[in-house]
Amino acid sequence: MIEILNGGARVEGVPLAEIAARYGTPCYVYSRAALENAYHAYRQALADRPARICYAVKANSNLSILKLFAGLGAGFDIVSGGELARVIAAGGDPGKVVFSGVGKTRAEMQEALAAGIHCFNVESASELEHLDAVAGALGKRAPISLRVNPDVDPKTHPYISTGLRSAKFGVPFDTAIELYRRARALPHLEIRGIACHIGSQLIDPQPAAEAAGKVLELVDILAKEGITFSHIDLGGGMGIRYRDEPVLPVADYLAPMLDRLVGRKELLLLEPGRSLVGNAGLLLTRVEILKHGAEKNFAVVDAAMNDLARPALYDAYHEIVKVGAGPSQADAPPVGGSEPGLRARGGNDVGAGGAAPIATRRYEIVGPVCESGDFLGHDRELALAEGDLLAVLSAGAYGMAMSSNYNSRPRAAEVMVEGTEMRLIRRRETLAELLADELPLL
Ligand code: LLP
Repeated sequence: MIEILNGGARVEGVPLAEIAARYGTPCYVYSRAALENAYHAYRQALADRPARICYAVKANSNLSILKLFAGLGAGFDIVSGGELARVIAAGGDPGKVVFSGVGKTRAEMQEALAAGIHCFNVESASELEHLDAVAGALGKRAPISLRVNPDVDPKTHPYISTGLRSAKFGVPFDTAIELYRRARALPHLEIRGIACHIGSQLIDPQPAAEAAGKVLELVDILAKEGITFSHIDLGGGMGIRYRDEPVLPVADYLAPMLDRLVGRKELLLLEPGRSLVGNAGLLLTRVEILKHGAEKNFAVVDAAMNDLARPALYDAYHEIVKVGAGPSQADAPPVGGSEPGLRARGGNDVGAGGAAPIATRRYEIVGPVCESGDFLGHDRELALAEGDLLAVLSAGAYGMAMSSNYNSRPRAAEVMVEGTEMRLIRRRETLAELLADELPLL
């Protein structure tokens, strides 16, 4: 929903320059319509079978975003007591929550049992025993799935591959039967399902379909032992287009997986994160300093690796476009309508209105943090002046959620655009808040 036109850019009906003027930069901007469209695409793709979309909270845990998905009927995939607290605070239904993660603490297990979540996705033999003990002490039975590891290569970045035998996640396929028998024998557990998640930013649909096939083979073997499930959780992982990845429409991505499920009665759970929010958000930032050199040109912007860690952490590519001229330059009023998704449409060079043309150069787009790894983009061809506004695209997932206070930088503001309205959904952190929790030694 970003449209870049001569003189400005807008998300839905709101010019990004207005958002920057009102709330400052760096600032995350989301399009409500893009979030809703992404959810509806999943709903439509799943229309032919019983299914629940459990949004992976880790991708973006802002309360307004959780509330929006809860309102659309979503469940949630959580990985901590903190995420559970957010879901509850946002009005989400704990009865539609699945709890993943390799290291759930006993306190987190208690909180989730008290809240009445739908299912614990158990990832080890030890966790089964802990959960049985915790549930027993509360006089409850804990609903469980085992997260099985199908040993399928998702062909994605090694840091976000989770389904290989060597990963810390899930239980090995060949031990799953034994563990289900154990779970059945434990008095305070109730077997509800089976789960699997092989990785993130998957473009090719085949690995997920192959994993689904392997999970279903296991389902059939377990059925012969009388171990049956009311749901099958096939995780998240569908990728988005950051640059030129050949991303399929959701329905096409899911089709090979859904084909394998035809005739199965179990409720299908999916745990998408990135594909629901990634292209519905951007990071708005301003050029502070230009440094032109013999070797390289640097554009130092006011967002940094603490705001968006993905480039520094995974060498991830995010498109960066100029969306407004600095205050010193003539500002032409933005024009135009909206497009689905916060991807750039039109040229990526917003002129400086009537001012003299600026030379296009190759820039390293970097933040002010004191690390060489603090970059948002390498070698970007842009015509820049100090004060210009840039948008770092596809930043709705794992952007704000992974932000930190490194270099004592307050975290960015977050704004939701709804048609012609902009709503602040998280205030910019203040310096006073940054210091508030620390106790002086003397
Ligand atoms: N379910 C489980 C059990 C997961 O571990 C994950 C993501 C998801 C669902 C959601 O996956 P998605 O649909 O978003 O791909 N910080 C990395 C991504 C880490 C993903 C971790 N697990 C990044 O910025 O690329």
